[in-house]
Amino acid sequence: MHTQVIDQGELHNDGGVISAKAFAGFQGLIYKTAGISMSEAKKSLVSGRLAKRLRALNFKSYDEYLEYITKGEGAGNGELQIFIDLLTTNETYFFREPQHFDFLKKEILARHEPGKLLRIWSAASSSGEEAYTLAIILSETLGINANWEIVGTDISTEMIKAARQGIYNEHRVRLVEKDMRHKYMLRGTGDYHGFVAIAPEIKKHVTFEHYNLVESPPRKEIFDVIFCRNVLIYFSQETKIRVLERLCKHLKTGSYLMTGHSESLHGMLPQLLAVKPSVYLKKDLHGKMTL
Ligand SMILES: C[S@@+](CC[C@H](N)C(=O)[O-])C[C@H]1O[C@@H](n2cnc3c(N)ncnc32)[C@H](O)[C@@H]1O
Repeated sequence: MHTQVIDQGELHNDGGVISAKAFAGFQGLIYKTAGISMSEAKKSLVSGRLAKRLRALNFKSYDEYLEYITKGEGAGNGELQIFIDLLTTNETYFFREPQHFDFLKKEILARHEPGKLLRIWSAASSSGEEAYTLAIILSETLGINANWEIVGTDISTEMIKAARQGIYNEHRVRLVEKDMRHKYMLRGTGDYHGFVAIAPEIKKHVTFEHYNLVESPPRKEIFDVIFCRNVLIYFSQETKIRVLERLCKHLKTGSYLMTGHSESLHGMLPQLLAVKPSVYLKKDLHGKMTL
């Protein structure tokens, strides 16, 4: 592969290698702003994801780009948000990790008092698939006109835009049963062939907002269930505990927090009792469970 060697590290023709100094700068910046820990092993991922942006802004090295977002013009013009958007991993799809949805139906919704508001937080909602999956399930169990709402939040503004739009390709909806698709999704035609759009009756129960789990101010709502899946894995142990403490403040006692299947919180927060793999019950401060 042809490479061009420059002062502060090599820049491959695909955006390639970052100097040690620039990588350390990006590592520090993404940790400070999003709580995301990136090891040396993520070097090529970071260079690959930032390469196009460097080209778009006409920078010849990652060091120049780092300088731009930390000290230059980019520090105050929204470039930091673009940097965060580029470095977050947003992989998701409808009905991902379905055991959580079975638990929701059998253990939570089955005991829910009819008529009472039920509010669920999809706390790293990415492009919205998890939040709309929850909406489909609540619509099927409690009813489309019942008193429930879903709040989806994410640090990526691009993902929030996509979530609000609610248009998905076939691959993202592959696990949605046919009759659910017919009921809650509209099939695209023409330019939108191969895509589906979430039906307005579902959308009206779901809101999306930019929110940083590490440092946004506390929210106003208290939730009946929180889904915080496949994001804790990107945080250091210290950040995980901080985020869990923040989430717990927004969760009713006797309510549940769901994490991703590969994210064990073993012993991290005394208030959270593991009731199943990746399902945690919030106890009160005296360890009592008020179900
Ligand atoms: C892999 S997706 C998970 C999506 C969904 N919860 C799921 O399990 O399919 C992780 C999401 O976490 C978001 N994220 C990363 N750091 C965050 C932070 N500090 N605050 C809020 N969201 C964050 C990313 O933008 C990304 O959309």
